[in-house]
Amino acid sequence: MAIIQFPEGFRFGTATASYQIEGAYNEDGRGLSIWDTFSRTPGMVKNGDNGDVACDSYHRYEEDIALMKELGIQSYRFSIAWPRIFPNGDGEPNEAGLDFYHRFVDCLLANGIEPMCTLYHWDLPQSLQDRGGWESRETIDAFVRYAELMFKEFGGKIKKWMTLNEPWCSSFLSNYLGVHAPGKKDLQTAVTVAHHLLVAHGQAVMKFRELGADGEIGIAPNVTWLDPYSDRQEDVDAARREVGWFVEWFFDPLFKGEYPSFMTDWFAGKGATVPIQPGDMDIIAQKLDFLGINYYTGHIGRYKAELGTFDCEVIDAGYEKTDIGWFIFPEGFYKVLVHIKDRYGSIPIYITENGACYNDEPSEGRVRDSRRISYIKRHLVQLHRAMQSGVNVKGYLTWSMMDNFEWAEGYTMRFGLIHVDYNTLVRTKKDSYYWYKKVATNGWFEN
Ligand code: BGC
Repeated sequence: MAIIQFPEGFRFGTATASYQIEGAYNEDGRGLSIWDTFSRTPGMVKNGDNGDVACDSYHRYEEDIALMKELGIQSYRFSIAWPRIFPNGDGEPNEAGLDFYHRFVDCLLANGIEPMCTLYHWDLPQSLQDRGGWESRETIDAFVRYAELMFKEFGGKIKKWMTLNEPWCSSFLSNYLGVHAPGKKDLQTAVTVAHHLLVAHGQAVMKFRELGADGEIGIAPNVTWLDPYSDRQEDVDAARREVGWFVEWFFDPLFKGEYPSFMTDWFAGKGATVPIQPGDMDIIAQKLDFLGINYYTGHIGRYKAELGTFDCEVIDAGYEKTDIGWFIFPEGFYKVLVHIKDRYGSIPIYITENGACYNDEPSEGRVRDSRRISYIKRHLVQLHRAMQSGVNVKGYLTWSMMDNFEWAEGYTMRFGLIHVDYNTLVRTKKDSYYWYKKVATNGWFEN
């Protein structure tokens, strides 16, 4: 038995996102987002589920914040729904939307919980999508206007900001793999969208600095790690490209002001190029105050030509899987964190998401999700190990505070520390909630 102790001042928290929990999709002047449209498109979301009601947190936020307080967390990561603020993406802001987030943030602060705010967790106003979405540079301008208003409105209250959640998902997963809204399947579109997202990020950071905003700003990309199946060059290269697609594709522009040539060459070979305009790379490479990292899974990868553009086949090496079918690879968490430190330096890092899908249901008032406890424990052990190897980690936020709308999986996949009954909206604390409460309160756990 070893004690895994996190340093003084290390912050524990949980995370959620607006469309996944809020519901109230047509209340108080909220406009529609691409997820309202996508979830109504037959066949895109399991069971035809949508976020119309979700966890109803828009109305139940006080109850949810009371649960957070009892959980003993120091920080809570949430996102603002852009279409509540600008129902049409731009134009006049919606006062009722602003009021809601004021009430919400005030309630967090009154309960001693630090708000960590994501500006864009995928709910792009549909009206902007109708005008080209992230394929158009006009969406960059609209995002910066939205970001500016948020910095002015919530300055002093919210001191940690993230521009974007997981730009890999809102570009490639959404526009090349077609799994998320808007559901396109075109590599060039995805590459263009990824670039525009990064420019939007950079311009928002510039605006933050220009306003002299009090606080810190970063971004929250998702990363993975693949070990090559063998030391055959093809396997090594395929695994490297797969990691590069998540890490270097986004991090090289952010930290070095250039795209990685091993990836641009690869994309060029598939007919896709980045539409860089003069000045873009300097805009993207703004100095960040911190880096958010989302990590869930990693793999062993082997070259397989038939796969096409991304020719890395995931090998079943016998690792356990969570209920969503993702391999559990805690060591990949360590490896990718060390890789990021070695390549980009020791920027302060918050783990803005890490967690597991297990669909345990309540019985006699209890949810026995010991597998979630084990998952989080194993990842915290690797995180601690990375910190001992010099990775500058300031906090850890588990995904998620409560079960919620899991995008294309609808309500079928549960990631929460709190169980939500989607018929009654009753919240039930899981065993992992009680375990995490001890970790968040003590700053250590027994392994
Ligand atoms: C996203 C969350 C999502 C979670 C589990 C991340 O990709 O940021 O919104 O629910 O992973 O899939």
